[in-house]
Amino acid sequence: MKHRTLGRNGPEVSAIGLGCMGMSDLYGPADRAESLATLHAAIEAGVTLLDTGDFYGMGHNEMLIREGLEGHRRDDLQISVKFGALRDPAGGWIGVDCRPAAVKNFAAYSLRRLGVDHIDIYRPARLDPATPIEDTIGAIADLIKAGHVKHVGLSEVGAATIRRAHAVHPICDVQIEYSLISRGIEDEILPACRELGIGVTAYGVLSRGLISGHWSQARAGATDFRGFSPRFQGQNLEANLALVERLRSIAAALGGSVAQIAIAWVLAQGADIIPLVGARRRDRLDEALGALDLALSSEDLAALAEAIPAGAAAGERYDAAQLAHLDSEKKASA
Ligand SMILES: NC(=O)c1ccc[n+]([C@@H]2O[C@H](COP(=O)([O-])OP(=O)(O)OC[C@H]3O[C@@H](n4cnc5c(N)ncnc54)[C@H](OP(=O)(O)O)[C@@H]3O)[C@@H](O)[C@H]2O)c1
Repeated sequence: MKHRTLGRNGPEVSAIGLGCMGMSDLYGPADRAESLATLHAAIEAGVTLLDTGDFYGMGHNEMLIREGLEGHRRDDLQISVKFGALRDPAGGWIGVDCRPAAVKNFAAYSLRRLGVDHIDIYRPARLDPATPIEDTIGAIADLIKAGHVKHVGLSEVGAATIRRAHAVHPICDVQIEYSLISRGIEDEILPACRELGIGVTAYGVLSRGLISGHWSQARAGATDFRGFSPRFQGQNLEANLALVERLRSIAAALGGSVAQIAIAWVLAQGADIIPLVGARRRDRLDEALGALDLALSSEDLAALAEAIPAGAAAGERYDAAQLAHLDSEKKASA
């Protein structure tokens, strides 16, 4: 396994992390036994960074990871946990709470569900508009002083928020969507992270399966995020799958798969970027880890830039209501 350091202040992690969300939530039904087998296979292959959120299946994902950790050395792994998103019993999204007392309460429950004595990287999933980011980060800093957390991360925030947060306590990484077809971070967020020595854990590197080479329209069910995500609908989907066909011919020429080329492209954008892949089956995991053996040359990157220019995707990465809540979509320079 190759390794990368999560920002100037963070831990060394595997060059690809495993995002566990889809094992519990948002991508339709998951096979529990296969999810656990995938977790074990990932750890055995040397993946050390495991990403979750306390709201992924309302605690289900953390309890699954606890089972997946059995038989493995906890100290070899870095567990990244997001908090703050509020759900109702039907799974509806009912707001964000990142007040200091809420942060400490969420952490207490996560530690218990995960069965660990510390969380490696703890991060608010979204900016809470009612709570200054300084207060939220201050609460995580208290958890660090008490030994319950090791590092502070952020998720889907813009450059101005990153600077404010980093002034309170060093931030090790910002988790944010980044892929061949989601390039929004390149203008302000990535430069700010680089200036401050903050890493990026990139999610959606396969655009939630859209640019994996395996997507078919028949697969988005009613409880699936992709059932209402703009890029997966009607003409947008057709246009986006046409981009995938361009990727497929480049992949064939390079001897890789579509998913591997997409992941390798993210890996090639800088040693400070760690892709999180959402594999929940061992065959998908194997394919994803194969990207580590694909070093793209400058000619390959130029061919990809021509095939998929920035802004090529049809449709936004979230629907309008969700986009409106993303601090990362607000320009710091505006
Ligand atoms: N901070 C945030 O706001 C945020 C938001 C979303 C996700 N995340 C984190 O990022 C992680 C990654 O999620 P993502 O949706 O962004 O991941 P992704 O890797 O872009 O997409 C995962 C989807 O792609 C499919 N896929 C096809 N081939 C694959 C392959 N070779 N390897 C992996 N997946 C393949 C999966 O397949 P199948 O359906 O066949 O299993 C799954 O449906 C999540 O698990 C979560 O931890 C964070």
